[in-house]
Amino acid sequence: MEFTSDIFKQFDKKWALLTAGSKEKFNTMTISWGGLGTIWGKPVATVYVRTSRYTHEFMDNGEYFTVSFYPEEYKKVLGVLGSKSGRDIDKMNDSGLTPKEAGETMTFAEAEVTLLCRKLFKQPMDPANMPADLVEQFYKKDAPHDLYIGEVIEVL
Ligand SMILES: Cc1cc2nc3c(=O)[nH]c(=O)nc-3n(C[C@H](O)[C@H](O)[C@H](O)COP(=O)(O)O)c2cc1C
Repeated sequence: MEFTSDIFKQFDKKWALLTAGSKEKFNTMTISWGGLGTIWGKPVATVYVRTSRYTHEFMDNGEYFTVSFYPEEYKKVLGVLGSKSGRDIDKMNDSGLTPKEAGETMTFAEAEVTLLCRKLFKQPMDPANMPADLVEQFYKKDAPHDLYIGEVIEVL
């Protein structure tokens, strides 16, 4: 079986947008950590969201979210969406992308692929259960991550 390392670069090197909320009110942010896999007999996407993100509120309040991937030319836009908060800029209207409905939540028309996900699980990731070097590197100054697992109910 051929198993290329490229699939691991999908999140890490290409980045993605995590979007949650309704057409009337949604938010989006850039992610480069995540995974695709299987649990409970379902295809799932796993994402990790620091509790300090504005998007975190939308992830908690809604049942659906999308993970969308973009052509290289949008990397600059993703850079902005990954450094500015929806609390400070209007990500619904001024993201530089075209908002598009995906089921009960949102994605953007420029996406190459959108995974429409139904939230199945959330769990805070307790730094007490991590080795000291990770805590030192990732959680000394910044808020912890919550892990979310969503069933991929449609690939758009
Ligand atoms: C390349 C890249 C990857 C990122 N990956 C994540 C991630 O996986 N999880 C996370 O919580 N934040 C991640 N961030 C940070 C958020 O995208 C950033 O804090 C964003 O401004 C949050 O926006 P919001 O407050 O509107 O939700 C990443 C940022 C960049 C630039």
